[in-house]
Amino acid sequence: MQRGQFSSTFTFVLAAAGSAVGLGNIWGFPTNAAENGGAGFLLMYLILAFLLAYPALMAELIIGRHTRANMVMALDSIATRQSAKKLGRLTGYAGMVTASLILSFYAIVAGWMLGSMAEPVASFFGFEALGAWLTAFGTARNIILTSLFMLLTGLIINAGVEQGIEKWSRRLMPSLLILLIALIAYVLTREGATDGLRHYLVPDFSQMTNPDLIVSALGQAFFSMSLGVGTMLIYGSYIRSDANLPMVGSLVTLADTGIAFLAGLLVLPAMFVAQNLGVAIYGDDGSLIGGPNLIFQVLPTLFESMGGVGFLVGFAFFVLMSIAAVTSSISLLEVPVSYAVENHNMSRKRATLWLSSAIFALSVAICLNFDALFDAVISLTTEWAQPLISMLICLFAGWVFYRNSILNELKQGNPDIEHSLFWKLWPVYVKFVCPALIGVIIFQGLLF
Ligand code: TRP
Repeated sequence: MQRGQFSSTFTFVLAAAGSAVGLGNIWGFPTNAAENGGAGFLLMYLILAFLLAYPALMAELIIGRHTRANMVMALDSIATRQSAKKLGRLTGYAGMVTASLILSFYAIVAGWMLGSMAEPVASFFGFEALGAWLTAFGTARNIILTSLFMLLTGLIINAGVEQGIEKWSRRLMPSLLILLIALIAYVLTREGATDGLRHYLVPDFSQMTNPDLIVSALGQAFFSMSLGVGTMLIYGSYIRSDANLPMVGSLVTLADTGIAFLAGLLVLPAMFVAQNLGVAIYGDDGSLIGGPNLIFQVLPTLFESMGGVGFLVGFAFFVLMSIAAVTSSISLLEVPVSYAVENHNMSRKRATLWLSSAIFALSVAICLNFDALFDAVISLTTEWAQPLISMLICLFAGWVFYRNSILNELKQGNPDIEHSLFWKLWPVYVKFVCPALIGVIIFQGLLF
């Protein structure tokens, strides 16, 4: 079968970064940082992103490009023993289920972004009530906005990887970066911002050993880098053979952690600025507020404080957030869709239609039982399923995949790789260090 391919390494980096950079960076990371003591969380997140997530990302990219297949077939095909093949397929299925569950809550949050994007427009044209409805939490509003977002995702996935994914990724990243930096520059001039900066950048080391903080930081790092469901494996399968994989992987890691860091630099100071403007940012128990609504409370307050231009800035911000969400959600939907197309001979259109409808049904179930399901699904998928599946992928890369096949794969894009630091460290890393560390973190999370 003819597989799509990215036209250049550069567009691949953009597409993979487009998948990685999304709500996880700008909604998830700052919220998690605020809830877990700020700087201590930031530090732990950075350590885990480079120490664990980067090597795990490399495992997915290398296996994907070598096998040029979805995760079910990929893990099956690198194994030779029947039992390993079976475990490989099971891991692939688990990845697909996880990707679908992630998309089911992701689409809800992305729907909120669409609502916040439309609100300033509605208010500008005098539809105040509509504007209020778009931004106020409500079951009907949640479901309607989610359905719009799923429709958008399905339409792009239906167009296929080259047209669909590349086009949307190309302009997003530079625009997002520029807007974030401009907003940070603005927020830092406002009263209260330095308190936020201190909270975000001066760590309280005693908090860093808190098991909750470590598990959250681990989940955040794996979520933000789109690991453990087969997304990056699939993207790797579309990359050209001459691309230098370790470099590509580091660029994606740097872009992803960089944007998350900047988002924190915006949101945490913005919380303290908002406090000066009358928003309560401490809960009854004296800790900073968090929760899924955090940035929807804090950022609009900041935009309003800008006066007339605030309306435009807010609109631009939520447009970019919606695009960032789309370039991520398509990478989630691609996981089950490519499996259905490649293993069950379904047409791309049919697969997209059925799978996005099924995932939307899950979203509706979450919307109808929001308090019971929303946080639970997030925790189950990002804190447990993603790290566990990543651990299995590392084990496959370290113990099942032939070392020589890996080396030959990497040599295509980098003939001298054998003498590089990467090749000295990474094989040992995926074989022992990553699985052991993930195992320990999950274990201590279960115990405490
Ligand atoms: N990483 C994306 C974000 O930060 C979300 C995402 C896309 C994702 N594909 C994924 C998360 C696969 C986990 C697995 O918003």
